Amino acid sequence: MTELKKHFAVIGNPIHHSLSPQIHAAFAKETGLHIDYEAVLSPLNQFKNTIYQLIAQKLNGANVTLPFKKEAYELASQHSNHARIAEAVNTLEFKEDEIIGHNTDGIGLVRDLEQNLNVDLKSKKILLIGAGGAAEGVIYSMLEKKPSELILTNRTIEKTNAIQNKMDVHVKSFDVNLNVIEISKLPHQYFDIIINATSAGLNNAELGIDHKVFHEGSLVYDMMYGKETSFIREAQSKGSKTSDGLGMLVEQAAEAFFIWHHIKPQTKSVIESLRAL
Ligand code: ATR
Repeated sequence: MTELKKHFAVIGNPIHHSLSPQIHAAFAKETGLHIDYEAVLSPLNQFKNTIYQLIAQKLNGANVTLPFKKEAYELASQHSNHARIAEAVNTLEFKEDEIIGHNTDGIGLVRDLEQNLNVDLKSKKILLIGAGGAAEGVIYSMLEKKPSELILTNRTIEKTNAIQNKMDVHVKSFDVNLNVIEISKLPHQYFDIIINATSAGLNNAELGIDHKVFHEGSLVYDMMYGKETSFIREAQSKGSKTSDGLGMLVEQAAEAFFIWHHIKPQTKSVIESLRAL
């Protein structure tokens, strides 16, 4: 008996730039699964309707990207731990009468750091720049790895304080130091890992960060991919090891693939082939 083809999509606005269809097609080819996966543009005020239409068309699952991750969280009837804490969803599973919301962004970041870039987070001193959805989506996964200290900074410091308060219970349970420092007052001391989770690079804007935070031996990571930011260029000039967020993109997709199909795809060859483009 031939297996029924399953249907998936990524929903966003804009969506034409999305690499997710390519990534999931590569995973399906490698694992021998029979699926289709398309990019769907949802009008900005029509996210719910777009999802209900896709469910009516027998979609099995969906990835959700900007600007709909919060709306996807609100739409889901059940949430994974990571989605509940981030209050954002990037992966939906459609099951009979349930819509289950997951968030694989944090797992994607941590796997890229630990498995592809060989940098363990345990007992490390980490600086996370940004306090929007991208930053909030990864903090819990980072705390789980028990760094010695996680320092949050952002142009608007009130947002960082709010995240610190929200994370307090998890900080205590993982016994991690979570601190907030104003971006203009960052110490020049050594951070093992510095992560840019802001959207400044999208507009080629400067972050307003003192470049003395970059040191030889640190890993400096920008969640953006597809273009080299001035943040990465400056870190390279100071001798830091650097990475963009392409690996995170592929790893978060691999975790979504695992949620839907219960198979872990290989990611290294997919990252390499996307980088070669
Ligand atoms: P995302 O979902 O991509 O995180 P967001 O929720 O709009 O998008 O958050 C954008 C983040 O990038 C915020 O931390 C924002 O800083 P503010 O909270 O001060 O707005 C940060 N950001 C964007 N442009 C920036 C810039 N030019 N300099 C510094 N930070 C910037």
